[in-house]
Amino acid sequence: MILHKFKNQSDLDRAAADLIISMVRSKPNAILGMATGGTPVGLYKEIVKTYQAGLVSFAHAKTFNLDEYVGLPVTHKESYRNFMQTNLFDHIDIQAGNTHVPDGNAADVDAECRLYDKMMFEQGPVDLQLLGIGGNGHIGFNEPDEHLSRGTYKVTLKQETREANKRFFNHIDEVPTHAVTMGMGTIMQARAILLVVKGAEKAEILDRTLNGPITTQLPASLLQTHPRVIVMTDCDVNYKVSF
Ligand code: GLP
Repeated sequence: MILHKFKNQSDLDRAAADLIISMVRSKPNAILGMATGGTPVGLYKEIVKTYQAGLVSFAHAKTFNLDEYVGLPVTHKESYRNFMQTNLFDHIDIQAGNTHVPDGNAADVDAECRLYDKMMFEQGPVDLQLLGIGGNGHIGFNEPDEHLSRGTYKVTLKQETREANKRFFNHIDEVPTHAVTMGMGTIMQARAILLVVKGAEKAEILDRTLNGPITTQLPASLLQTHPRVIVMTDCDVNYKVSF
């Protein structure tokens, strides 16, 4: 892993955006893995600014999002499809048919998960996968557990995750109990991964992700086994490489 530390979040957003933009400039038909949550909002704004300045085009790029809530209409303001439209897709020249977010309302969720993996397998691999991290170390919605899933699957969200995300809803009862998420195997197939971690409250989980034991109880720790991970953060952490 490569760790880049930033003094403030606006520098971090710009650098993260620049990495994604460089990928699309050097490979216009790049496949990007996209993330949601509070963390990427600023970097998506920077991408939009760069697009509006005429300095990058997404006309040939494709995207695959990590996850989606189960049971929220796509028009709900907190659905991840809606998040992507309002924060990024509606403001750049990406073709609608080239953007993919798992369908959390599919009548047959298992079939939807298999279809998502099949599409990623046939069109992939993802060139650059953007990730945030949950306070409990989840990536996508792969929650800490005794076992992790290889492929895309329907996950029961942990109470701590629903608590963390209730800030986006009126009440905890409105936070969905389930989501569809790329599995760890799906995520790890990406050629390169950009993990963005913001805020002092995430310093400890980032330290454990970088330096702690690799364990299914901290899904992000599996990133230690991926050959090309760039971590960008404003947290006060160090990467102590030791074998
Ligand atoms: C969310 C998403 C993750 C995200 C994480 C952290 O629920 N499923 O992809 O990285 O939790 O979110 P935030 O950036 O808001 O802290």
